[in-house]
Amino acid sequence: MKILLIGSGGREHALAWSIADSPLTQQLVIAPGNPGMAPYGKLVDIAADDIDEICNYATNMPADLVVVGPEVPLVLGLVDKLNERNIPAFGPTATAAKLEGSKEFARAFCQRHDIPQPAFYPVDNYAAACQHIDALGSCVIKADGLAAGKGVIVADTAAQAKDAAKQMLDGQFGAASARLVIEQRISGPEASLFALLDGENAILMATAQDHKRAFDGNTGPNTGGMGAISPAPRLNPELEIEVMERIVKPVARGMHSEGTPYRGILYVGLMLTDSGPQVIEFNCRFGDPEAQVILPRLRTDIVSAMLATINNSLGHFDMRWDSRHAVTVVMANQGYPGAYKKGSVIKNIEAADNQTDQLVFHAGTANDADGQLTAVGGRVLAVTGLGDSQDAARATAYEAVAKIDWPEGFYRRDIASK
Ligand code: GLY
Repeated sequence: MKILLIGSGGREHALAWSIADSPLTQQLVIAPGNPGMAPYGKLVDIAADDIDEICNYATNMPADLVVVGPEVPLVLGLVDKLNERNIPAFGPTATAAKLEGSKEFARAFCQRHDIPQPAFYPVDNYAAACQHIDALGSCVIKADGLAAGKGVIVADTAAQAKDAAKQMLDGQFGAASARLVIEQRISGPEASLFALLDGENAILMATAQDHKRAFDGNTGPNTGGMGAISPAPRLNPELEIEVMERIVKPVARGMHSEGTPYRGILYVGLMLTDSGPQVIEFNCRFGDPEAQVILPRLRTDIVSAMLATINNSLGHFDMRWDSRHAVTVVMANQGYPGAYKKGSVIKNIEAADNQTDQLVFHAGTANDADGQLTAVGGRVLAVTGLGDSQDAARATAYEAVAKIDWPEGFYRRDIASK
């Protein structure tokens, strides 16, 4: 098969690594990709949100399958446009991707289908926001639309919440924050569950736990994720079943019954509260760095799983997983998630990647004019270790990180520590 993969982050590097390993893959093209993906396929310079160019390229290949990594092209309707050209694409349509693209849509959908979640109040003006914030006190303020992972503020006080609501309504995230959702703040450990949905059926993929804060001890600003563990330590098999029965399968049934069947990966962000798991958010794609911690454990051919998802045949599909644990440590540019310098040289990556129990996935890297690997993004590398226990996987991951020569980078030293 000729496969076109869309995206350029660590998540897409992990996807490229898995797709290239499939016996079904004859040719892999990645738009736009990054230097770490070059061994797996051809890189073409088309941006992930350039919907028309991607469709033209896929038509000319011609692609037998397009795999969409990030949320923006999904929400912009890339899969719909490819389907109009009869090109099979892995990922939900724009309407189904609203589960991530609109927080208000997702909350109202869960309410219609009795899916457990905190109380929520959509608003489009500051006076209404203040009314709900005063009633809730400590609460969560969310921009309705996509805000590159920055549109959620967990406010300890009503004053903080009002300040966040004002900034967002005043245009902090443009049209994405013209509407907000004010939510009750719930508490408990967080975990994520990943499932495949084929429009009707839903099967469990795997679980993971992200580390969102920039610094050790869960301090510092929120980031896209500084490291991850799989399986998620807190999601035992009983809880996995509960999440599948009370959340994931009702999503599959509900989207089908509303005429917007969901096909693709559903990423369920969960809070494990005293009264059971509740939905914090849905994402319509793999997580980053969750893909880098989950895919090394996959023992089933990923392309077959994607085809079963597109062809509505997950009901007969069996996914197998390595029983080992995986831990991913993200190496970021100093300053991230704020401003950072670009162009520092990274050395000795090869020594950290043995392709068995130590893997290095690239994100914000580029080759400079002299062919040296340099850091050009915020999150730059994701280093994954595998082991028979979480502790063994953690030790393997940090052993690999220590081999990488990049003084301008930083990483958390407490990923997966108990
Ligand atoms: N790691 C969080 C995300 O991918 O949204």
